[in-house]
Amino acid sequence: MSALVAHLDVPPGPGGTTAARTAARTVLQAWGFRDADWLYDATVVVSELVANAVRHGGGILALTLHAVRGRVTVIAADCTGAPPRRRRGDQTGGRGLAIIETLSRAWGVQPYGRGKCVWVLLPACDGR
Ligand SMILES: Nc1ncnc2c1ncn2[C@@H]1O[C@H](COP(=O)(O)OP(=O)(O)O)[C@@H](O)[C@H]1O
Ligand SMILES: [Mg+2]
Repeated sequence: MSALVAHLDVPPGPGGTTAARTAARTVLQAWGFRDADWLYDATVVVSELVANAVRHGGGILALTLHAVRGRVTVIAADCTGAPPRRRRGDQTGGRGLAIIETLSRAWGVQPYGRGKCVWVLLPACDGR
């Protein structure tokens, strides 16, 4: 089976994360991923990845969804080489990576130009 790939532009500004989340949900539904809980979790991962790229990564360059044999990877490219690092949660946040780890099978970082890509492999979707 060939891979399905979607490149989503993330608008700059405060609405970017919500726009990315909505667009990702629409694409995944169009690809046949219909389980409501899985879709919800996938959009949470997208939100946390995009928020981190914007807040810590110097801005998001590209958001990519990749599906092959029913397995979806979400990839966010940003502008800095510094990798995500778990930190203790407090009133300022610090739970995004923990949430991503809970909702994913695996995640990692790859160099991308002068920055990096953070990729997250989602669990298989039962409702597909
Ligand atoms: N894309 C990124 N680029 C650089 N650093 C990151 C990135 N994502 C996360 N981090 C680092 O990892 C830490 C933990 O991320 P996270 O758990 O989402 O907490 P929060 O975003 O609330 O600080 C961040 O505080 C930041 O130092
Ligand atoms: Mg975060």
